[in-house]
Parts: sequence; structure tokens; C-alpha cells
Amino acid sequence: MARAEASLIETIGKEGLAGKNFLDIGSGSGLFSLAARRLGAKVTSFDYDRDSVQCAQDLKERFYPHDDHWTILQGSVLDPEFMEQLGRFDVVYAWGVLHHSGDQWKGLARAMAATRPGGTLLVALYNDQGWLSRYWTTVKWLYMHVPIAQPLLIAFYAPYFIGLRWVVRFFKRQGVHERGMSLWYDMIDWLGGWPFEVAAPQDVLARGAEQGFQAVHVKTVGRRQGCNEFVLVRKPA
Ligand SMILES: C[S@@+](CC[C@H](N)C(=O)[O-])C[C@H]1O[C@@H](n2cnc3c(N)ncnc32)[C@H](O)[C@@H]1O
Repeated sequence: MARAEASLIETIGKEGLAGKNFLDIGSGSGLFSLAARRLGAKVTSFDYDRDSVQCAQDLKERFYPHDDHWTILQGSVLDPEFMEQLGRFDVVYAWGVLHHSGDQWKGLARAMAATRPGGTLLVALYNDQGWLSRYWTTVKWLYMHVPIAQPLLIAFYAPYFIGLRWVVRFFKRQGVHERGMSLWYDMIDWLGGWPFEVAAPQDVLARGAEQGFQAVHVKTVGRRQGCNEFVLVRKPA
């Protein structure tokens, strides 16, 4: 939890959330919604996946029972009616989500539309690594569509995803959890993360500029695998 809060503070600043309306698109476990609530935001979280919604509800029940400033819903960022009825938010957070939605550019457009003029949009999207991204698209497709491939792929990639990364993280004293996930679940999440899309930073920035968003912070992973991170501010009305 402390790490989730620190990550939000690093991205938008300590004073950036108090009293703000915060939309968490694809809230997953709800950990970052909880962090935003703890930092004083009025939070709306939603996810397409029922189990994730339940998980966020369990988290709320544990830390913020009967709280009117945290609403949890089930819905899709690709559903125009659902998104329209949510309204506009001061801060919209779509971290590691749109590239799993099945249409990341449509998802990005909906996330931008949900950001009020003058508001902030925080997005993390998988980096486009060219042929390597095509390679992972094939691996992930096999993992999801050919049942016999699953144990084989796990056995093949576990030495890297768990063994090697455990050693590296141990020596760097980074702990063995990534965004609240163990290395095992991080590997399963990666191999089974389907649909899967990637985006080049300049394409994200161009889409933002088209809709009147200016980048105030961009953190890219260069040519490596991982997510590029964007903080985009919408032009005031
Ligand atoms: C990798 S998780 C990220 C969770 C969380 N944002 C975080 O940073 O820890 C991706 C989440 O996006 C959700 N998701 C995928 N497609 C979606 C869609 N169309 N609408 C809303 N959520 C979606 C998945 O169910 C999953 O919970």
C-alpha cells in the first residue's frame, strides 16, 4: 500500500489528489484506488472483470466501509454509454489497462473524454519494441488459445521470470513484489495478458495533442520491455 501511494505521489505530486475526483479505469485489485482515497481523492473505480471488481470491493470493505467517497463499478472503458454516464474527472488513471482492452486507441479516446478541461490523465501503455513485440504477441496468443502450450511456456519462461528476476531484485534490495504482485503472478499476468497491444511514445503523444492534451511528464523505457508512462494535462476550456 505504501508503495502504491508513493507511486501516485511520484507521478502527480503529494498535493495533487486531495479533494479531487479520481477515476481509476481498470482498477484491478483496487490497490491504487485505495492509495488515491488515502491521499484524499473522491474515487470512482471500475473494471471489466467481475473478480477484480469483487477484489476492489473487499479492499474497500476492509479499509473504507460505508464510505461515500469511493464508488466501485463494473464496466468497460470501450462502452461509450457506460463512460458517458460516469461524467468528467479531475484525474483519470489508466495504468497498464488500455493495452489489454482489445482496442487501446478507442480506450485512450474514452479516457481523454472522461478528463475534465484542465484535468490530468495518467496512462501507462506497453512499449512498442518492433519485432520483439510481435514475438510476445505470438507467445501470448499461444498461451491463451492452445491449452497444452500453457505448462510448456511456464516451464520455459519461469527460470527467467522467477529465477533470474528474483536474484536481481534480491541483490538490488527491491523486494520480490511488483505493483503488489509476486513474481509468479507477475509472470502469469504477463504470459496470459491478452488482448495485448503496444504503442510507440510518439503515437500516444500525437493522439493526446489531437485532443488538446499536453504532456507534462513522460517516462519511457527506451527500447526495453515494459510500460511507457504519460502524464497529460487537458487544455482548460
Ligand atoms: C494489468 S491490470 C492493471 C490493474 C491496475 N490498473 C494496476 O495498475 O495495478 C489490467 C486491468 O485492466 C482491466 N481491463 C481490461 N480491459 C478492460 C476494459 N475494457 N475496461 C475496463 N477494465 C479493463 C483488467 O480486468 C485488469 O484488471
